[in-house]
Amino acid sequence: MTDNIQREIRDIWNQNAAFWDQRGGDNGLIMQRTLIDPSMERLLDLKPGERLLEIACGNGAFARRMAQHPVNIVACDFAAAFIELAKARTTENRERIDYRVIDANDQAALLTLGTPSGESFDAVCCSMAIMDMAEIDPMLRAVRQLLKLHGRFVFSITHPCFNSGQGIKRVIEQEDKDGEIIDVYAIKISNYATPTSYKGLGIIGQPAAQFYFHRPLNVLFGACFRTGFVIDALEEPTFESSVNPNRPLSWDNYREIPPVLIARLRIA
Ligand SMILES: C[S@@+](CC[C@H](N)C(=O)[O-])C[C@H]1O[C@@H](n2cnc3c(N)ncnc32)[C@H](O)[C@@H]1O
Repeated sequence: MTDNIQREIRDIWNQNAAFWDQRGGDNGLIMQRTLIDPSMERLLDLKPGERLLEIACGNGAFARRMAQHPVNIVACDFAAAFIELAKARTTENRERIDYRVIDANDQAALLTLGTPSGESFDAVCCSMAIMDMAEIDPMLRAVRQLLKLHGRFVFSITHPCFNSGQGIKRVIEQEDKDGEIIDVYAIKISNYATPTSYKGLGIIGQPAAQFYFHRPLNVLFGACFRTGFVIDALEEPTFESSVNPNRPLSWDNYREIPPVLIARLRIA
């Protein structure tokens, strides 16, 4: 991946930051609030006084939620515009969140967040950003060094099997089932096995299409295993009720298909 593409990826996030911040508000987007954050919070299982590093924090909604535990947080993002918005939105527990502009592709920069001996954080998290990163090995290596021996790394990601990559189509089909007309919600997948990058919209209407990097499960977790992590918890939450009644193709209608995957890694 060239420096030009890396710069373009960051510029796009800076362009989208204000729009995403507006949509998410103080507490984050609906999918984050309903499905992702509760699962991340459960798997992080933070104890009062622990130190948490959040990578790719966006407008800081999850950091603010975690600060209530109460824990001390370093929250970083490579888009300076997001960090400014995050600071502006943080009024409560301000003293517990240290916001920084850091590129997660830069292992050395991430390591500056720790102490010289490493092992600085009880937990590290990264929510809904790994699929936006061209490379993940530098971040994984840094996290491995920054974590305390019994620490945990929790991340969420668009589900690599059902909600990632070009060639995934959400469909609704109608079926006459013994005289009852029912809607069947399904996903059609034509590409999975090959890692690909493409552009798409995280939120319809955002100023610029963003880059995505699709990794099948063996590639995603293979990188984690190579770095010295094991998985000790995995969640695939689904919506239990409708949140967008006017949008039939909204994920909350696909009740049997998880749009996101949340994993907890520990040092092997
Ligand atoms: C989909 S948003 C998610 C933001 C937030 N974590 C949330 O769940 O609302 C992706 C975030 O990842 C950040 N990001 C993408 N690549 C990054 C990188 N290489 N280093 C740091 N942040 C990055 C973007 O700036 C953006 O804030």
